[in-house]
Amino acid sequence: MGSKSVKERAVFATKFGAIATTVGSAVGLGNIWRFPYEAGAHGGGAFMICYIAFVLLIGVPLLCAEFAMGRGTHSNIFGAYRTLKPRQNWHIAGYIGIVASLMILSFYSVVAGWTVEYSISSAFGTLDFSSTATGHNQFLELTSGWRPVMWTVVFLLCNFAILIGGVTKGIERASNILMPLLFLLLAAFCVNSFTMPGFNEGITFLFNPDFSKITPSVLLGALGQAFFSLSLGLGCMMTYASYFNNRNRLGRTAVTTAFLDSMVAVLAGVIIFPAVFTFGISPEAGPTLVFEVLPYIFSRLAGGGVWSTLFFLLLFLASLTSTVSMSEISITYFCEEKGWSRAKATVVSSAIALVGGVLCALSFGPLGDFTVGGLTLFSLFDYVSSNICLPAGGLICSIFVGWFVDRRFLKSEFTDNGLFRFRMLKLLVFCLRWVCPIAIFLIFLNSVGAI
Ligand code: ALA
Repeated sequence: MGSKSVKERAVFATKFGAIATTVGSAVGLGNIWRFPYEAGAHGGGAFMICYIAFVLLIGVPLLCAEFAMGRGTHSNIFGAYRTLKPRQNWHIAGYIGIVASLMILSFYSVVAGWTVEYSISSAFGTLDFSSTATGHNQFLELTSGWRPVMWTVVFLLCNFAILIGGVTKGIERASNILMPLLFLLLAAFCVNSFTMPGFNEGITFLFNPDFSKITPSVLLGALGQAFFSLSLGLGCMMTYASYFNNRNRLGRTAVTTAFLDSMVAVLAGVIIFPAVFTFGISPEAGPTLVFEVLPYIFSRLAGGGVWSTLFFLLLFLASLTSTVSMSEISITYFCEEKGWSRAKATVVSSAIALVGGVLCALSFGPLGDFTVGGLTLFSLFDYVSSNICLPAGGLICSIFVGWFVDRRFLKSEFTDNGLFRFRMLKLLVFCLRWVCPIAIFLIFLNSVGAI
């Protein structure tokens, strides 16, 4: 898909295809792995309410802005800024996007590597469900030493094979089936949650906000999660929208994407937290939370190994649809801005992600004691990309579209040149001009203790 030059870009054939692909990019580890651990570490309900508010007030308007820029210019993030405002330096946001996407690819691949490890161990019966009864930590055993490095490399090689083989379309077609399947599986596990002794406690933790727990770090964490989960602020959605055709209703696509993405995160929370309280695991376990809790859940199910294999396999594939989309940001930059061949761009991007991925993977082994500001490399990459780079990219995008892009351009994008009605334009522009920049800016200031 991203191999075409600007002028000969492909378009998604159907509206469903465009939405499925966009949701495929958004839905991934961010929803199922990152959301529960961030919510767990930040007070549950307090985090949840901030997260939902940010998705509605910042996520949806920014999705609209990125969609309009991408579809209206049919260009990568650099080209989009430059086409709309030539001879200005707005495209600097593109560099933020590239740095963020490569950092995310690095630590994301480590977690995706765990899904490979878990699905293979489940399939071969070496994920020992009986040991959960004794409180045995499967995660530590499966991910100690150099093993995470191996699985990170395996995952990045799969990502590379898809990108270099030009089979992105195949992955997209597959995701049309796999995404609904993942959704169904999550719904089934949710039903199972009702039978857990810790159901009430888990649901109360997740949905009953204690407003006194809304601290600067909760606000920043929820903001970062909204950006991460919706793949916002790094040009990912802009790049995908550059493949939309003119019949794609941008406003609806944005709302649908945000809704489905948040639904998956909430479902993941409903699966994880009742189990957390049932099995006495700390909700603040951090990045390993979901991988510690899930074996317990599967251990209670008949045919747990089969469920586990299926679940981690689907999670692995959902991760691939996200990493393929994130890889496109730097690949389209190298191809379209630097004139590199697709092969060279893919090799260079993948090599950078590989170095970053191996370093992040070693955070769970030999580099575990190496910290910067108290964070391991893995957590540092996550923190800097999600909580700083993505909101910064979003801030630039909202100011740009809200204040500098011609209103007629936006109107024509959201109404398809007057073919549809779009009643929300004023509200959208208001959010982009005022709500998004002020909220992001205040949260930044708040988190560094300036206010
Ligand atoms: N948006 C992608 C995810 O949530 C990165 O996994």
